[in-house]
Amino acid sequence: MRTKIVAANWKMNLDINEAAEWLGAVSPQVESLPCEVFLFPSFVMLGDLMDMYEGEKILFGAQNCSDKEAGAYTGEVSAKQLASIGVDFVLAGHSERRQFFGETNAVVKDKMLQAVQHEITPVFCCGEPLTVREKNGQREFVKQQLEESLFLLPPAAISEIVIAYEPVWAIGTGLNATPEQAQEMHAYIRSLIAERFSKKTADEIQILYGGSCKATNARELFACADVDGGLIGGASLSADEFVQIVRDAQQ
Ligand code: PGA
Repeated sequence: MRTKIVAANWKMNLDINEAAEWLGAVSPQVESLPCEVFLFPSFVMLGDLMDMYEGEKILFGAQNCSDKEAGAYTGEVSAKQLASIGVDFVLAGHSERRQFFGETNAVVKDKMLQAVQHEITPVFCCGEPLTVREKNGQREFVKQQLEESLFLLPPAAISEIVIAYEPVWAIGTGLNATPEQAQEMHAYIRSLIAERFSKKTADEIQILYGGSCKATNARELFACADVDGGLIGGASLSADEFVQIVRDAQQ
């Protein structure tokens, strides 16, 4: 049985004071709940929040890392640097990085390679834009994203990875995928993993749903057989709503 994960992706929101307040409110309420909880703050406060946090439930991740090992890349943060402060996870291939910062499948693959080399678990994000969904091309689109990045990692690394299916048309729009749409794509992604690696790997890999997942729809999305939790953007900014979503992940 796969454990559910509820992950907060704060994006470029909250300052250190707001973040500390959030952590103080959320941590006592989620500590004893049986799912996994990840938090992706911005780089600037990642180390401080990790130092501040006294519990054991919340695992910390970065929203991005460089595709390069080290060097003259002003403004970038390497996986090695993240590992050196004890970061456990990193988002790779988030649609906002692809859209606003031109990240290709090849770059996403190199970022994940950096992460796994430094024992950081990538949370690999994939998902189709609206124009593709309108033409019913979502399967081919996501398959290509997987083939050009995730499937090029060393097979031994795959079983450690977390996938987030995030249809681009649902991110930050208030329009979530229906449970049927999410289930269909999650089952499809799992079938591709089974074909390429093994049924065991496919059965074990956790696949999160992201895209306007919130307290009013989390329960029905998380009830889908192949949905193993959520990557929560906007709704994670409110401590109360986030705690509610974590509660909704209890089966
Ligand atoms: P959203 O973002 O919940 O605000 O739609 C999700 C994400 O981008 O991970």
